[in-house]
Amino acid sequence: MNYLADELNFLLDGTVAGRLLSPLGRRLYFPKGIIAQSAEAKQGAHTANATIGMAYHQGKPLTLSVINEQMPQLKPEEAVVYAPTAGIPEARKAWKDRILRHNPSLGAEQMSLPVVVPGLTAGISYMADLFLGEGTPMLLSSPCWDNYELIFQERRGAELREIPFFDVAGGLDMGAFKHALARAAKTGTVRIILNFPNNPSGYCPTVSEADALLAGIGEIAEEGADVLVLCDDAYFGLFYEAACMKESLFSRLAQAHERILAVKIDGPTKEDYVWGFRMGFITFGSLGLQERHYEGLVKKLMGAIRSSVSCSNTPAQYLMLKTLQDERTSAEKERYHTLLQRRYQGVKQFLHEHPAHPHLRPLPFNAGYFMSFRCTGIRAEALRQELLAKHGIGTISFGETYLRVAFSSIDEEQIPEVYQLIYDTARDMGSGT
Ligand SMILES: Cc1ncc(COP(=O)(O)O)c(C=O)c1O
Repeated sequence: MNYLADELNFLLDGTVAGRLLSPLGRRLYFPKGIIAQSAEAKQGAHTANATIGMAYHQGKPLTLSVINEQMPQLKPEEAVVYAPTAGIPEARKAWKDRILRHNPSLGAEQMSLPVVVPGLTAGISYMADLFLGEGTPMLLSSPCWDNYELIFQERRGAELREIPFFDVAGGLDMGAFKHALARAAKTGTVRIILNFPNNPSGYCPTVSEADALLAGIGEIAEEGADVLVLCDDAYFGLFYEAACMKESLFSRLAQAHERILAVKIDGPTKEDYVWGFRMGFITFGSLGLQERHYEGLVKKLMGAIRSSVSCSNTPAQYLMLKTLQDERTSAEKERYHTLLQRRYQGVKQFLHEHPAHPHLRPLPFNAGYFMSFRCTGIRAEALRQELLAKHGIGTISFGETYLRVAFSSIDEEQIPEVYQLIYDTARDMGSGT
């Protein structure tokens, strides 16, 4: 084991984070190599900085004309230079302020400084690197985002344990969650990913459901289990009903118990409509961790970043900063939120007017980009293919049971027609016509 990894393990041992690390997580460290030495030189190399592999001329990075023309508002330093491994400090600070603004019950000292990663997918994958090894049980909801399987199971060899998401009454199946948590807690460590608003269902818990969920997690921690909760907040903020829990579960989990390690995985991808930026954040929070532990954990994460992509996209970070600082942003985001909310209401209206279908039952939804149907008596994949081939309507099937419709991508005026075609096609398939 590298001595730097040993030092970080020594720092983290005895905390919930140290106990939850995977074998790879224990091996990771941030080397005192090129990046660290170059950062040191930035402060003190007054005569010449000959550390990093970039090309400078008279103090400015060399840039090609096309880059200057296509990104005219960005300085060369904002457009082409490498970003620090953990992200540009102002971007990290600005995102932390934003998390605090949107989660008023959270205190600045209850969380780490967010670390920039190249998108939420990468963030989830890094958390799998740090905390999941071969055969580690990982709890997730069913249905869930399909990429979890690839990341946790295929990439890291974890053993997936699915928790049925909804009960028959149409809310979160708290009994199933509690049962799965209690079962996993018998091993002494529990790892779970929670994604609200959820992909594919479009569900976000009510305040009372969130309370029950948090109580269930708190209970197993109180009984002695170390609990890792990954909060995948990809669709955070896109809430359409008053009853939705508007703060991230992270804010409560970060101050819940010293045996709970909460990780907030979020970013501008969906929230700020910049899907291709490839930029996200990882933030740690635990009652059991102090500043020095956060720094140690961040160094582990930096080791994962340095050893995979080295650092994240620089222009995306500066553009995100400018977005946060621009006075038009808030009104525009409000407008886009209303646009999505009207589509949501359009879908609800259609479902209200068509309360029963022999083969399609909508899963509860109140937030995010999507809604899903549970298919009975017909196969979701066959329905998807039929919709595409006969009507040119693209949807997503999740296994044979769920059909996901991204109402975020359908204009409001098209919603009744699209849903009518989905209903008619499913009915025809069920009756064999
Ligand atoms: C639940 C969930 N998490 C994470 C992501 C990935 O986000 P990113 O594009 O930033 O990697 C998605 C994207 O579809 C998602 O639905």
